[in-house]
Amino acid sequence: MTSQTPRAIIVIFGATGDLANRKLYPSLYRLYRNKKLSDHFAVVGVARRPLTNEEFRQNIKKSIENFKDDPINHDEFASHFHYNPFDAQHLSEYKKLDHFINELDQKHNAGGNRLFYMAMAPNFFGPIAANLKSQGLTDNRGWSRLVIEKPFGHNYESAQKLNEQIGQTFTEDQIYRIDHYLGKQMVQNIEIVRFANAMFEPLWNNQYIANVQVTSSEVLGVEERGRYYDQSGALRDMVQNHMLQMVSLLAMEPPAKLHPDEVRYEKVKVLRSLRQIDEKSVDDYFVRGQYDRGEINGEAVNSYRESNGVEPDSDTETFVAGKFMIDNFRWAGVPFYVRTGKRMAKKSTEIVIQFKDLPINLYKDKGDTIDPNLLIIRVQPDEGITMHLNAKKTDYETTSTQISMHYDKKDEAIESPEAYEVLINDCLNGDSTSFVHSDEVALSWKFIDSITNAWSNKKAEFPNYQSGTNGPAEADQLLAKDGFHWWDI
Ligand code: BG6
Repeated sequence: MTSQTPRAIIVIFGATGDLANRKLYPSLYRLYRNKKLSDHFAVVGVARRPLTNEEFRQNIKKSIENFKDDPINHDEFASHFHYNPFDAQHLSEYKKLDHFINELDQKHNAGGNRLFYMAMAPNFFGPIAANLKSQGLTDNRGWSRLVIEKPFGHNYESAQKLNEQIGQTFTEDQIYRIDHYLGKQMVQNIEIVRFANAMFEPLWNNQYIANVQVTSSEVLGVEERGRYYDQSGALRDMVQNHMLQMVSLLAMEPPAKLHPDEVRYEKVKVLRSLRQIDEKSVDDYFVRGQYDRGEINGEAVNSYRESNGVEPDSDTETFVAGKFMIDNFRWAGVPFYVRTGKRMAKKSTEIVIQFKDLPINLYKDKGDTIDPNLLIIRVQPDEGITMHLNAKKTDYETTSTQISMHYDKKDEAIESPEAYEVLINDCLNGDSTSFVHSDEVALSWKFIDSITNAWSNKKAEFPNYQSGTNGPAEADQLLAKDGFHWWDI
């Protein structure tokens, strides 16, 4: 392996948790397999549960079972993993952990670099960061970085507090706040489509774009996460982070350079230009929903209120549709509609850019309507880009019909890297472009808080959409009153 690949000891807090097993270990494995990790790395799994190294490595091997046909020795990969049972509240345990990391650093020749990954309950993020500093774990020889999972606070105040807490130990450029949507290939593609094509950027403004739609729909309900979700809801769980991040990337000005600070600066400017919504006007901009019973794939499913961990009269929204107005020169007057929900008709994330209508329709006399041009960025599941254009109908006459041009990533025969794989790789290489800056967190929470406050002062009429549908009718009306409609997902 080349010496340019990063060396580090990766310390994962929450090593026995669901995220670590489902996402982090398979991602580390793929990086290892694709030679993006040098042999000079070790992972220290940290969690409360008493496990032996052997048991921990069995878990790791289980998490990569799907890759059993690779010509990679799974035992060898797992031998980089070490378990360290840990009670985050006992200071003495940090010293022991420090010692252990130093030992492994020597053994694996990891260059004194440390990546601390917080993948556990968010109430521990701040205290652990403080203890890492007070117990000397950040006085290491090489670099140290902190990766923080969501949720990053549950409102502006708590997010600020958390920023302050971790800011006592780590500087902003050492903090990598995860939003896994920023690691998705097609979300990263927004920037390339916009800034590497002469065709789009000149049209990318309020003169040519009628509206932008971002939909992220899920089929699953809250499943086993009712306890967390009931305190959160779709606005906090999806809109504050993933949806607003996609909107920022779609709306930002071209950065001066592709440097993390430049890109994040442009995204922050978008968030600062968001029209703030006050309590009186919230219904003009946002719609909330909660799923009722219904049918998914021909099977009857329960309502949200019947889920484990959810209050039987819960007012938590499982669906949000909203309209963002970005009051700056480029976007004044162009609505950015977002929509996200659980238990909808299908699992899909799609961005639709709808261009404005032409000034006249030359084909009207022939009875043809001209459909607006659409640029569709298909984030998942079928990654790709589609353009809707108008072209000649195959006929004797010159009449117009809508055609689609497709780019399907799957035709490239190259497996797309997983979001977490991309983000861990970036972090190991010190590239924070696809991570969230504290200013972005603060501004997005400020915006979201005003909606949450308005909603908490008014009882919702829930449930208001059936499982397996595209949300409540009000979500359609939100666009209809502007003369638009959602493009099919
Ligand atoms: C997470 C939310 O951040 O994103 C989940 O907490 C949601 O509720 C998930 O299901 C969706 O991610 P993806 O990658 O499946 O679209």
